[in-house]
Amino acid sequence: MSRDLVEHGLAWTWTPRRVIAHIRGRDSNVLGAWHEGRLVGFAIMQFYAEQAHLNLLAVQPAARRLGIGQHLVEWQEEVARAGGIPVVNLEVRANNPGAQAFYRQLGYRQVKYLPGYYQGREAAIRMRHDLRVSE
Ligand SMILES: CC(C)(COP(=O)(O)OP(=O)(O)OC[C@H]1O[C@@H](n2cnc3c(N)ncnc32)[C@H](O)[C@@H]1OP(=O)(O)O)[C@@H](O)C(=O)NCCC(=O)NCCS
Repeated sequence: MSRDLVEHGLAWTWTPRRVIAHIRGRDSNVLGAWHEGRLVGFAIMQFYAEQAHLNLLAVQPAARRLGIGQHLVEWQEEVARAGGIPVVNLEVRANNPGAQAFYRQLGYRQVKYLPGYYQGREAAIRMRHDLRVSE
């Protein structure tokens, strides 16, 4: 899913080995959404002292617009809140307006444009959700 749904057109960096390291890592939370025995979505969040970073999120195309992505992000944010972490950051491909709209409706706002962020080839938008602000 990371290769086909997130990193398509780029070199594959979120390999099984890297995802397993996050599953085992003490500073990451990896969530899976399952339907009829199949993985339909997942989210990886990493927690630091002052912020959390949403590393990766994807939902299978056939399972989109059912609220799964929102549930995954809100669950991760709940974990951040429980740990007293006030801010979540993420980067999203600049040419992915659908995901940006998804994050906006969850309270994320653009804070930076990062040219060449992905392997020097593609720009990213950094987005941030201040968990202390309710909108
Ligand atoms: C972005 C993504 C995770 C959203 O997952 P999802 O489960 O379909 O999202 P939800 O059903 O929870 O959407 C909640 C709301 O977000 C908004 N939204 C979701 N996808 C959207 C899109 N493509 N365009 C505009 N708004 C969107 C809508 O307001 C939606 O509510 P609605 O369906 O009632 O209109 C999914 O499209 C995906 O996996 N995309 C490919 C990978 C990717 O871009 N990952 C994120 C960057 S790493």
